[in-house]
Amino acid sequence: MTVTTSGPAPSGAARALPDDLSVWPASAALLPDDDLAIGGVPLTALAERFGTPAYVLDEDEVRRRCRAYLGAFPEGEVLYAAKAFLCRAMAHWVREEGLGLDVCSAGELELAVATGFPPDRIVLHGNAKSPEDLKAALRLGVGRIVIDSTSEIARLAAALPPGSRQRVLVRVVPGITAGGHVKIRTGTDDQKFGLSIADGSAQHAVARVLGQPRLELVGLHCHIGSQITTVKPYLAAVRRLVGLLARIREQHGVTLRQLDIGGGHGVAYRPGEPALDIAALGAKVRAELLVSCAAAGLPVPRLTVEPGRAVVGPAGVVVYRVLTVKRTGDLTFVAVDGGMSDNPRPALYGVRYAPRLVGRRSSAAPAPVTVVGRHCEAGDVVAADVRLPGDVRPGDLIAVPVAGAYHLSMASGYNLVGRPPVVAVADGRPRLLVRRESLADIQGRDVGL
Ligand code: LLP
Repeated sequence: MTVTTSGPAPSGAARALPDDLSVWPASAALLPDDDLAIGGVPLTALAERFGTPAYVLDEDEVRRRCRAYLGAFPEGEVLYAAKAFLCRAMAHWVREEGLGLDVCSAGELELAVATGFPPDRIVLHGNAKSPEDLKAALRLGVGRIVIDSTSEIARLAAALPPGSRQRVLVRVVPGITAGGHVKIRTGTDDQKFGLSIADGSAQHAVARVLGQPRLELVGLHCHIGSQITTVKPYLAAVRRLVGLLARIREQHGVTLRQLDIGGGHGVAYRPGEPALDIAALGAKVRAELLVSCAAAGLPVPRLTVEPGRAVVGPAGVVVYRVLTVKRTGDLTFVAVDGGMSDNPRPALYGVRYAPRLVGRRSSAAPAPVTVVGRHCEAGDVVAADVRLPGDVRPGDLIAVPVAGAYHLSMASGYNLVGRPPVVAVADGRPRLLVRRESLADIQGRDVGL
């Protein structure tokens, strides 16, 4: 991580915040007056020009992360998980970098294909694919469809035109507990995704797919959870899946050539938090795959990974403006002009963020505050119990790092405030990618009385 400090040297105890930019994009650079530049563009200038709240996306950081994945999985395939964040530019960047795409709706699929993403490099997921999802997938010629339930096997086969064949993977549940929060753990049988190996549903689905001449079973898939910070659960998943590959060959005489182990690679949201080491993941998974396949006498299948958060999360920053500061007993609430409608993650998963004041040099000592949003409920918290300069006041700008994944993609219309814009930064230039949702947009959809 290169951090250039172009402002005056910190003045010891008077300095309000440590200059730890470890969870910010690599381009983050401190400027005079404690402004912060991302991709060479000062956040104060971005706030001035595009308003607040605004998401800022560092294009080079996204591209660098894509390349790191290709380096870590040189013989494998890397699909960017579009659910983390998708817009036309994002689809364009990941395609240029050589990644494929994982989508889970007709909406994500259509957007990607409309920007020129080759459909054969796209994989469609979904525990409950709608008829529209499947229709779009077949019309656009999506590369692979991941079977997530027994009932969709016949449904998909029936939807295929005579004479055509669709490549599919079967998503299995390997029985592994991993993931940063119970709501994002998908490796065990007590959740809705995939087909259980333990109760035989996975084996049953494989037999059914093999019995459908219009479906070509190319491999197995699993996704054990999200925000996973150690390699170990992935190795366990590889062992279980290779075990199943061996049983499939025994029972059906079929050797499957693809193993997709999903995504879920954890990132640090605050300095000092662990992140999954992608290079180590690549090396160790590959080694495990070689050993397990050799033991089972199987050829080594092509490995696929589907990172979302680790590609785009740390490349994003959100900038808010402080609207009010309220002191209540021992607590100080710093309320900003966004909140749970642009980032539901603290409310959903209890995630902790590390906001910082930008654009004003303060000599006030850091004080504990809770940064809250503007929405009408008490759970609308941006960052609980963090330290900001004690003189934080209305009009200040607050920036929150690691806002690139699952922020805009999970943003809502709560209180009709409108979703923030996305501005890309690269080489000192800002570029509007997604405009702010206006009141006219919101009112335009309301067509009845
Ligand atoms: N592949 C599949 C099949 C998935 O379901 C997911 C995420 C991914 C890949 C990418 O996972 P990632 O690398 O981004 O962790 N909204 C939650 C995360 C939900 C993840 C859902 N599936 C959050 O904000 O933490």
